[in-house]
Amino acid sequence: MLGSFSKLRKKKAALIVFHQSCSWFGFLTILFHILLLLKDQYVPYSVKQLLVPFLAENKPLFSGLGTLSFYLFFLVIGSSDFLMKKLGRKNWRKLHFAVIPAWGLSVVHGIGIGTDSTEPWAQLLYTAGIMVILIVGILRYIESVVIRHQSKRGKPINE
Ligand code: HEM
Repeated sequence: MLGSFSKLRKKKAALIVFHQSCSWFGFLTILFHILLLLKDQYVPYSVKQLLVPFLAENKPLFSGLGTLSFYLFFLVIGSSDFLMKKLGRKNWRKLHFAVIPAWGLSVVHGIGIGTDSTEPWAQLLYTAGIMVILIVGILRYIESVVIRHQSKRGKPINE
């Protein structure tokens, strides 16, 4: 989201590297989280319960949202690193927006199921994470409206 701000456009290459590293680190962390659930016998999960949404005995709704979120992240990361050329930029971009529901579902999942959700540090982490995304999202939207308005009036876009 930061890369589309006109003031940060010159830093776009570095932001893309940062973006890709964070995506892969996040995705591998999710895989580790899911594999750990198979090993952990305190609240047992079968492979089927992990892969088919809402089948789990433990909090089926929140577990199911975790599974759906995992599939959406998988779609986004798979389409970006392996299928981008085949899909074409336009289709890839459309698919990439699946990251928004993926993020929303994972937030609801984490808050709803996590044993740490009532801890002040966890609440601070969730609140800060949500606020950063909302604030940057709103600022980006405002900037896109301003740029559209300026280009309609024939003013050069401030680089
Ligand atoms: C197959 C899919 C998934 C299943 C079955 C699942 C299941 C679980 C379970 C049982 C917990 C509670 C663990 C505990 O607190 O002791 C949990 C916590 C959590 N999960 Fe997932 N999860 C899945 C996918 C995801 C995904 C895709 C994300 C994020 C992108 C995610 C993020 C979290 C977070 C942030 C917590 C909170 C940790 C805590 O407060 O202790 N999970 N998940």
